[in-house]
Amino acid sequence: MRPERIVTAIVGADALAADVRRGLARRPRELPPRWLYDERGSELFDAITRLEEYYPTRREREILATRAGEIARRTGADVLVEIGSGTSDKTRILLDALNDAGSLRRYVPFDVSPDTLHAAAARIAAAYPGIDIAPVVGDFHDDLDRLPRHGRRLIAFLGGTIGNLYPRERARLLQGIRAAAGPGGHLVLGADLVKDRARLEAAYNDKAGVTAAFNRNVLVVLNRELGADFDLDAFAHVARWDAGRSWMEIGLAAHDRQVVRIPAVDMEVVFEAGELLRTEISAKFRREGLERELRAAGLEPVAFLTDPAGDFAVSLARAE
Ligand code: SAH
Ligand code: TRP
Repeated sequence: MRPERIVTAIVGADALAADVRRGLARRPRELPPRWLYDERGSELFDAITRLEEYYPTRREREILATRAGEIARRTGADVLVEIGSGTSDKTRILLDALNDAGSLRRYVPFDVSPDTLHAAAARIAAAYPGIDIAPVVGDFHDDLDRLPRHGRRLIAFLGGTIGNLYPRERARLLQGIRAAAGPGGHLVLGADLVKDRARLEAAYNDKAGVTAAFNRNVLVVLNRELGADFDLDAFAHVARWDAGRSWMEIGLAAHDRQVVRIPAVDMEVVFEAGELLRTEISAKFRREGLERELRAAGLEPVAFLTDPAGDFAVSLARAE
């Protein structure tokens, strides 16, 4: 394995060790979602976006395809910054619209997964020779201050990734985005909307098992990078709608009692039968709630764009 393929070589083995020490000692046991996205995890996520059951990517693309021109006109951005950019696929719709509007000079993709980021940056650079591409590897919880602070900025945060943060983290991130956008700058935010349980749960429990493989891959990361001895077959993929908290609860449940050794952090973790290791939440929104959160962060909603079915929203807001 090439060294740059190891996520901890970039974000830091210490960061993984610290997250594991903290997250596996508490109840419910929990790991921050960023460790899902090593090279294999990023590939699996890309496969998720093409699944029949996983509607968010398709819906968001649909909204962008019909409304990108309007977003470009309203923002007049010359710098597009994208947080959690992944493959930068849907971004092309925004890049095309900003290009057509004649303003675009620079694209700054920002992601915690270096392989995915650099591969995407190379593809975008080849397809858009007239634009300066300046990728930044970082964590959106801690590193937003490394984003450029010049130009008329449009910050994109797509894919519904905002839902993977807890309410308090969301508030902090939105404030960071407001600062990164600067007064008069804009945010274009993709957010998944509340809908019936059956469709939500189907989107995270696909028949082909791709989501389950993506989720379990985090155990592969712990085994490889911390020498842990998780038995992948001993954990079931779980994704259920928690209507009270308005989020999908996603994790891995131990089939039977398990004792897992994690040498690099000197831990022995006991999972009781049925005990859940939470790997991610995916919150779903309603317009009022989302716009309240935007305003609280100093981001004034200017448009709320949805697909005809009302499955997903792309919200445009202006920084004060
Ligand atoms: N925006 C893309 C990808 C969404 S998947 C889309 O809409 O399809 C979430 C992306 O966020 C992944 O590329 C993952 O590597 C990145 N990510 C996850 N946690 C992160 C963190 N803490 N900081 C920065 N990027 C993160
Ligand atoms: N941002 C995606 C979402 O919330 C991430 C995601 C899709 C995910 N499927 C998953 C995370 C399964 C963990 C497990 O929809």
